Amino acid sequence: MATNSKRAREKTSARKVVRIRPGTKSVVLGVTGSIAAYKSAELASLLVKQGHEVFVVMTQDATEFISPLTLQTLSKNPVTTSFFDEKENWRPGHIELADRANWRHGHIELADRANLLLIAPATAHIIAELSHGLAAHPLAAIALATRAPILLAPAMNGKMWQHPATIENVEKLKARGVEFIGPEEGMLACGYEGLGRLWKVDDIAFRAEFLLARQDNLIA
Ligand SMILES: Cc1cc2nc3c(=O)[nH]c(=O)nc-3n(C[C@H](O)[C@H](O)[C@H](O)COP(=O)(O)O)c2cc1C
Repeated sequence: MATNSKRAREKTSARKVVRIRPGTKSVVLGVTGSIAAYKSAELASLLVKQGHEVFVVMTQDATEFISPLTLQTLSKNPVTTSFFDEKENWRPGHIELADRANWRHGHIELADRANLLLIAPATAHIIAELSHGLAAHPLAAIALATRAPILLAPAMNGKMWQHPATIENVEKLKARGVEFIGPEEGMLACGYEGLGRLWKVDDIAFRAEFLLARQDNLIA
């Protein structure tokens, strides 16, 4: 009995230290200031369960809708909300595996490390920023710097989604290879019914998995 519980303890601590499994993919999960932001918690959790390392990057407005602490806990990694997070953590050179638990990755490091940049929910604002190549906060800068596939799951009021400005921005991004999932039709938090709801979280996670697997097939 005592030996069993000792073994169980050893197993648990071994799991805590060895955080990065071979073959693990890195997903940068961007969260923006939509009422659907709370759904990113389930998405982060699903991606972790799917075996990926997840780094959440939030816009300032997103932090009004869901706490970085929630996403930090579910993703098991520090959450980036500002370029100035990097001030306290900057350190030159290689980072030891054991130090990674407390390491807040710089935005370029995250951009390089990502196998997929998934932004869910994606506001009209971030879609406009990405289409114009703006880089005023870490999430937008990562989108510019990464060469990983980008998947956006928009959520917004239907009139915003169907505005010519948004349509133009979406078309521009699609032409650059950015993929979209949703939005879907339904009752919106703003009281309207129409096209603008965040796509089902399970399907977003499934689509992310497909894009990650597709890279392996292309490389193989
Ligand atoms: C309660 C509330 C809900 C909102 N929901 C959305 C939304 O679902 N989609 C959207 O595009 N904007 C929404 N907005 C407006 C965005 O928060 C606003 O455009 C903000 O500037 C987005 O910033 P970000 O893209 O940097 O996070 C909402 C605002 C409030 C106050």
